[in-house]
Amino acid sequence: MVNAYLDTGIQSRMNRIINPKDNRVVMFAIDHPYFQGPTTGLRNMSKTIKTLLPYCDCLMTTRGAVRNNIALEDVGKKPIMLRVTGGNSVLNEELSDEKLTVTIKESIRMDAAGVAVSVYIGSVNQQQTIINLTEMINQAEEYGIPVLAVTAVGKNMARDLRYLALASRICQDAGARIIKTYYCEDFSKLVDYVSPTPVVVAGGKYTSPPDSLQMVHNSMEAGAVGVDFGRNIFQDDNPVGMIKSIGSIVHENYTVNEALEIYNACLPAASKLD
Ligand code: 5RP
Repeated sequence: MVNAYLDTGIQSRMNRIINPKDNRVVMFAIDHPYFQGPTTGLRNMSKTIKTLLPYCDCLMTTRGAVRNNIALEDVGKKPIMLRVTGGNSVLNEELSDEKLTVTIKESIRMDAAGVAVSVYIGSVNQQQTIINLTEMINQAEEYGIPVLAVTAVGKNMARDLRYLALASRICQDAGARIIKTYYCEDFSKLVDYVSPTPVVVAGGKYTSPPDSLQMVHNSMEAGAVGVDFGRNIFQDDNPVGMIKSIGSIVHENYTVNEALEIYNACLPAASKLD
């Protein structure tokens, strides 16, 4: 279908991020060191990327990781969702104190397919983080770069429908092209509230393969376009098995048990990441 009003730059990058054939994506989140330093599974970032890049559709990461940890022969192989907010660390109780850290020109220079901004709704820095989002959207839209809004959740905030739908809808109204949020009960309602903006689900703390695959399955059933998982992949004993089994649910509608068979088939060759 030809649409004379299509925003070609945005749509072309959206197609790189979310496969237009099935409208689904397995995004691999390895942006954690921007506030956590050398966390488990990401101590040897080059190895983690080299091992798992073939199995993801899009890599969500930072400027430093793109520059230092993607092997030359892999540059340009997968679209990058570039994190462009930060400015804080785990040493500070209040993680919400973030600002924009990467310019739009730098993001274009790095060939980012999209840029990611965290918002902390309900935190003391709520306004600052929403303004980070709107400011980046104003700049990024000018160059045809989609902005992914991350509904980051502070320590004391509930991860329920009421809160996550509030945060997600604020991101949509700000103009985010993709929303990343946490899974919760009645998740299909959240997806409906922000429709047609695509929703990807964050993984959260490491749990177990059956539990996190169940979450992937529930998210897809509820209408998410995919997931943006980190720790449940790179902190698992069988990271390749984990990302492949996630992909089987996202792209091939596998059941959790079928996906676990893929996971188990990779076990003999499994090796933990540093
Ligand atoms: C949330 C982020 C994280 O850095 C990332 O998404 C974490 O992924 P996971 O929770 O699956 O380890 O963007 O603020």
